[in-house]
Amino acid sequence: MRKDKINKSIHLEHSCLKYPLPPEFLKELSEELHFMNEYPSGGYYRALSNKLAEYVGVTPESILPTNGSDEVIESVTRAFGSQLILIPVPTFSQYEVSAKRNGFHHQLVPCLQDYHYQLNYSEQDLKKASLIWICNPNNPTGSSIARDEIKKILAITSGSAIVAVDECNYEYLGESVVDLIQEYPNLVISRSFSKNFGLAGFRLGFAVSSTRNIAKIAYYCQHFRVNKMAEMAGIKVLKYLAYFQGIWEEIARVRDQFINGLQQMGIMVFSSRANFVLADFVSLENTKKVWQYLRKEGVYTFAAWGEEFSGLDEHYIRFTISNQQEMDYVLTLLERFQKEN
Ligand SMILES: Cc1ncc(COP(=O)(O)O)c(C=O)c1O
Repeated sequence: MRKDKINKSIHLEHSCLKYPLPPEFLKELSEELHFMNEYPSGGYYRALSNKLAEYVGVTPESILPTNGSDEVIESVTRAFGSQLILIPVPTFSQYEVSAKRNGFHHQLVPCLQDYHYQLNYSEQDLKKASLIWICNPNNPTGSSIARDEIKKILAITSGSAIVAVDECNYEYLGESVVDLIQEYPNLVISRSFSKNFGLAGFRLGFAVSSTRNIAKIAYYCQHFRVNKMAEMAGIKVLKYLAYFQGIWEEIARVRDQFINGLQQMGIMVFSSRANFVLADFVSLENTKKVWQYLRKEGVYTFAAWGEEFSGLDEHYIRFTISNQQEMDYVLTLLERFQKEN
């Protein structure tokens, strides 16, 4: 049964986890406040790297904890991007922002055609590049990239470029290329604690790669970049894996229902493997109306008409998936909008 009214704002604009953290985790973590007079571990954050290595299935030397996965993007850009960076648009904005901030030559490669997002790198471009970005699943479309496609790019660029695969939504996709870091020394993977473990406010991410690449990336990072609370949060949160796995399954279920609901209203929507959904509202005028209508009802969404996504037309809205009640409410509002317009 859908609700007609919800008495609070619903924030679906940022794609962080919209579910509460386990109370026992918060209690345990708050004890750490007593020790905030101390510095964090710094450097390679060994205790944290050990936990992350266990979670990912690599050796601790292949891990570099960072201040959010945004810091992986910035440091990887600085370490490997000085020649040419390839960016498959529309995709996460920070690859482009980091390239620009560092004054590095970059090429935006259009990958969206007929509602289908597919990497569109030519062999010629790949051979010229020093850093190639792949976002899997891609933000904002939610599309997954086939493992064979990634392997093909790794093979073509082996010895000439770093291929950086952003897996910050890995927990929803359930597919990774971390097992390829030995076979392909040019592979770097980026992971996050923001979308999956609810630690967006702490700013915690990490890079996974060969020891050699990890040392190169670390050179561009500050020693104490991960603060002590974030360090402890990362170590402790993995104990609650089962709780989060339940949430990831729930989000995937609610997401697919939400997609279905939009399709039934005749709204074109990308099939997503992430915790967000991109929907097409056909014209800029209509999209603005929809966005404002939702906002007036307390629902905040991410509109494509800003600067955020190069290569994406302006008539899209991205919805982060929260719980069933909130997503049902959004569907109710959209149905009401359609009736009134
Ligand atoms: C694809 C992608 N990569 C990286 C990030 C950055 O995440 P964080 O710095 O919170 O780990 C985001 C956040 O929206 C994202 O969507």
